[in-house]
Amino acid sequence: MNSTVKISRSKKEQAVVYFLYEDKLKELSLLEKKEQDAVKTVLKTKDFEGKNGQISLLYVGEKRLFIVGLGKRKECNIRHWKQAVGSVLMQAQKKKITQISMLISKIVSSYVDTDLFAQTGTVSAYNALYAFDDFKEKEAKVVAVKSIEWIVADKRISNLFIKGVKKGKYIAEGVLFTRMLGNTPPTEMTPTLLADHAKDLEKNKNISVQILNKKQIEAKKMGCLLAVSRGSVLEPKFIIVEYKGKDSKHPTVLVGKGITYDSGGLSLKPDPYMRDMKFDMLGAATVLGIIKAAAKMGLKKHIIGLIPACENMPSGDAYRPDDILTAMNGKTVLIENTDAEGRLILADALVYAQTLQPKEVIDFATLTGACMVALGNERSGLFTPEDDLADKLDAASKNIGEMLWRLPVGEEYTTAMKSEIADIKNLGGVGNPRFGGASTAAAFLQFFTQNEKGNAYPWAHIDLSSCYYGESGKAHIRGGANGFGVETMIQYFS
Ligand code: BES
Ligand code: MN
Ligand code: ZN
Repeated sequence: MNSTVKISRSKKEQAVVYFLYEDKLKELSLLEKKEQDAVKTVLKTKDFEGKNGQISLLYVGEKRLFIVGLGKRKECNIRHWKQAVGSVLMQAQKKKITQISMLISKIVSSYVDTDLFAQTGTVSAYNALYAFDDFKEKEAKVVAVKSIEWIVADKRISNLFIKGVKKGKYIAEGVLFTRMLGNTPPTEMTPTLLADHAKDLEKNKNISVQILNKKQIEAKKMGCLLAVSRGSVLEPKFIIVEYKGKDSKHPTVLVGKGITYDSGGLSLKPDPYMRDMKFDMLGAATVLGIIKAAAKMGLKKHIIGLIPACENMPSGDAYRPDDILTAMNGKTVLIENTDAEGRLILADALVYAQTLQPKEVIDFATLTGACMVALGNERSGLFTPEDDLADKLDAASKNIGEMLWRLPVGEEYTTAMKSEIADIKNLGGVGNPRFGGASTAAAFLQFFTQNEKGNAYPWAHIDLSSCYYGESGKAHIRGGANGFGVETMIQYFS
């Protein structure tokens, strides 16, 4: 798709989109006279009042005119804006419209930085128009939108808009990459294919990728990753992606859970809980998406992605409840439930991260159903002992319209993970085996952020409870993987 910025409208447009605040309904300046009259008529009927989320379709001659409400100007936020862009584009796409002009009056773009406004609008546009329909017959696929032209009021705004749209395109490449990886069915999206996609990133400047195979993983003594992978016929991979921007100081290490399918293993998931478990590699996909976008943008950062990748399957050779595993740092883990596998493979990766002298380590994982129960699928859980890091990540997410919510790590969760017969166990609750599951999982991870001297690197864990939507999706984005986290992290790095 082509996304450009102009100050005058093209003749080719098949549809025009006009955004309106509820309390600024008179601002129709970018519309032609006939279009203004059509809007005024609708306003008179009160069928459209500019409320947030409201969309009306008018016909002015043969041209479609979508008017889109953004609510009251003071109450409008980036999420509303992104959802408005996404919703109207999905409606236009359903009408097989391929050339769209998005009209942005001065007042509409002026409540945040104009380039951020353009950036988030662009990401949202690409997100809305993306469909995972590779497996559908040709006639049923979505019709690709060929061009979006952002029409703005003057030259000054257009310069800022051009900047934002360019950034947005790069970020969207990362986001759509993450979504594609997540949506691909699990028998295809194996640890090997995931590694191949990671390797592909080397086509970008300043990226180098190293893939450890089973033998090399054995040599590193990653006992937890090896145990989890054993039930599967597929070989595990440990993927290391390094992006070296101009700043070559201590890297920020991003760790991503790469369970390409989570059946639960011998602690098999009952129906319907196994459904959607192809998405259990979305932590990994998020890390790859972030690094892809960072490289496209040429960010001046040093980022290393670590991805332990394998499948969690039951078999005669699968790891068992009652097993005691030895992680890369020699610590032992009692297995109480083979479905708590994500924390195990992450343990080895977090230990590996210690060897990289990281500035900070942030992990992304579809770790617990408990986090999704707590927060729903719009926000992700944020766990960290570092207030500073928490505030920075939270601010980054707010700026671009994603949402995090901080949940606790702390002594009671750590204590709950202690074992009588091993250093730690992979299941635990506070007061009841099922209580506090998202935080006890985080406490398990935290255990592996310390070296033998008890020194820990700055660490945050993001439980990706909102990384995918159900089949039907939302008005502004289709179902499946939604790419949560990529925009936040690019904002964090920018
Ligand atoms: N991948 C799941 C967590 C999950 C569940 C993510 C639903 C997204 C949606 C994870 O490996 C898992 O199975 N967790 C268990 C942990 C339990 C056995 C302590 C869970 O949440 O039930
Ligand atoms: Mn599991
Ligand atoms: Zn899992």
